[in-house]
Amino acid sequence: MKAYRAAILRFADDRSALYEEDGLLVVGPDAQGRPVVRAVGPYRALAGNFPGVAVEHLPGRIIAPGFVDMHIHYPQTDVIGSPAPGLLPWLEHYTFPHESRFHDEAYAAGVARFFLDELARNGVTTALAFATSHPASVQALMSEARARRLRLITGKVLQDRHSPDGVRDQTEQSLLDTEALIQQWHGVDRLGYAITPRFAPSCSEAQLRGAAALAAKYPDVWIQSHVAENLDEVRWARELFPRSRSYLAIYDDFGLMRERAVYAHCIHFDDEDRALMRATGTAAAVSPTSNLFLGSGFFDYAGADRAGFRYGLASDVGGGTSFSPFRTMLAAYCVGREGQTKPGLSLTPGQLWWQHTAGAAQALGLEGVVGNLQPGCEADFIVLNPAATPLLARKTGQAGSLDELLFGLIVLGDDRLVEKTVIS
Ligand code: GUN
Ligand code: ZN
Repeated sequence: MKAYRAAILRFADDRSALYEEDGLLVVGPDAQGRPVVRAVGPYRALAGNFPGVAVEHLPGRIIAPGFVDMHIHYPQTDVIGSPAPGLLPWLEHYTFPHESRFHDEAYAAGVARFFLDELARNGVTTALAFATSHPASVQALMSEARARRLRLITGKVLQDRHSPDGVRDQTEQSLLDTEALIQQWHGVDRLGYAITPRFAPSCSEAQLRGAAALAAKYPDVWIQSHVAENLDEVRWARELFPRSRSYLAIYDDFGLMRERAVYAHCIHFDDEDRALMRATGTAAAVSPTSNLFLGSGFFDYAGADRAGFRYGLASDVGGGTSFSPFRTMLAAYCVGREGQTKPGLSLTPGQLWWQHTAGAAQALGLEGVVGNLQPGCEADFIVLNPAATPLLARKTGQAGSLDELLFGLIVLGDDRLVEKTVIS
């Protein structure tokens, strides 16, 4: 057992932020021997209950749950900052040519190591990540994540049409590869598998049917894809699947909406789409830096809350522009405020932080497992230094409330704020 004394941020069941100025986090094995939070609360109330347990004192620091990134492409680490007039040219000119390199497992492993280092530097301890269409890309990321004891979910991309040589896969083989990878990796240590149709326009009907059959056969495996990101993409999907009511409904018509299904973007929705998300338990990965960079549009938070479907935050690197959850939370605030194309609202700092920790975990079906520091949660956490830069020190030193402190961190924070990332 080990304990940490610092300020501690965590979340209550009603999503509100709980903050101990002088807190104690006690980490120790659960009944299965896995390191979890054994106790958390005020130092003065708890310290006496754990005599003999070593306490690491971190004065002036804030302990918070490790961030959960609901949608990120590890092979696009080097695609960040590739300008294009929109999603489809961006895929064609930068993304597909770059992803074609990941047939080489040694190359993929090198990128995977850099990618996982970067997640850690930014305080991200759980991610739902796209690999590429090459099984070697999954082998590389799973192997590296396992060596680091990470809770990471990934899968081989399915794209058997409208994709260039080098990334296009073959329908039958793609499904055989997917099932073999599920059997090899899903549930091994903290790893999970996600069935990963890239998006409806890149998948034949047979491939979508096969993906859904696997999703039915392995109900605790995740599903990840993209939907309703960009207007040209929406038009194209509707042309390819004219019998479906909407772009989102294509996935439902093939049986690809359920709990543990996560769709990135979810921008160009109507209320029927939102109701379908809610009815099926499907979650949205809101990716604001990507949506701003590619000019895709603005996620409608009010619409999502009206329908009551699950969502959380995601970097969507490399359409997204930063690995930092602080940049993503700030962009989410700006997207929420946008009021010309949909109702504008002001998300509170607690809501933004929840969307990237406990809320994202809930959307992934991992509530009480990651994304929080309540007793029983896996003890992945970060140590923040709120005085990491002169401006941060000046701003947070003047904070008169928890909201002011958290908003200062969100607006001014980046990887410099994250002093340490602890994978327990
Ligand atoms: N739609 C299909 N593939 C992709 C991708 O790699 N990134 C984004 N942002 N959207 C997609
Ligand atoms: Zn994406």
